[in-house]
Amino acid sequence: MADKPKAAKAPPTYAADRTKPVTVATLLDMKRKGLKITMVTAYDYPTARIAEEAGVDAVLVGDSVGMTKLGYESTLPVTVEEMMHHVKAVKRGLSRALLVADMPYLSYELDPREAARTAGRFLKEGGAHAVKLEGGLEIAPTVKELQKVNVPVIGHLGLTPQAVNRLGGYKVQGRKPQDAERILTEARVLEGAGICALVLECVPAELAREASKRLSVPTIGIGAGPHCDGQVLVSDDLLGLTEGGPTKFVKRYADLRGQAVKAVSDYCREVRDGVFPGPEHSFTSQA
Ligand code: KIV
Repeated sequence: MADKPKAAKAPPTYAADRTKPVTVATLLDMKRKGLKITMVTAYDYPTARIAEEAGVDAVLVGDSVGMTKLGYESTLPVTVEEMMHHVKAVKRGLSRALLVADMPYLSYELDPREAARTAGRFLKEGGAHAVKLEGGLEIAPTVKELQKVNVPVIGHLGLTPQAVNRLGGYKVQGRKPQDAERILTEARVLEGAGICALVLECVPAELAREASKRLSVPTIGIGAGPHCDGQVLVSDDLLGLTEGGPTKFVKRYADLRGQAVKAVSDYCREVRDGVFPGPEHSFTSQA
């Protein structure tokens, strides 16, 4: 009798147990097991509920809230109090996913102790499990300070939007060999300082692969190719809520903005034409 063909082994898709809350230790464990980490941004309760129901591992309340929800032109104007408001709303919507709060511009760069106090507030008042800080060698002492008050830190290298003015725009970083080498060195220094994961934004895929190989903490990429240990996207981008065309690294999985504009114009037309509200949406005097 001929040997039965062996069933192809399906690649692993989820963390070991989707009923258990995700912790920073889960992320490390997922890297060790080769399980891809999924992260999306969320800024409010309904989006947190959607992320949770979809089985996302980690939710980032990014300072991208400045552009996506608050109408700022960059992340620079976002304040700690604005972040806190959104972190609390997202927290109310989560049960399993790890909640990460972005530290906004000027809340951590000047004084490590001040940074620790603010980061601690994100855990104590906001219910976050970790914070994310942009930057390289210059923030290593701050990462260490945050360890002293037990705040897990996610690093962020490559295109760091809070440095947009110094970088001269939102551009791919680390293309030149010396820039790539600097990013790899900074990644190792941040790992040594105690980060529990590293976001790599807009860097060549080869560089992200090398960083993912060299680091024992997971890398989470955005515009950093397929070799990172996980991926993060801005929820408004992936849902198609943002105006204008998506940037190269964004995949739109829906066109919610288009659908929303159509729904609201249909409503306006029906009100103007006397179609809505019809009898089925109206009450009569009889119960
Ligand atoms: O603020 C944000 O949304 C971010 C992601 C792009 C990683 O930092």
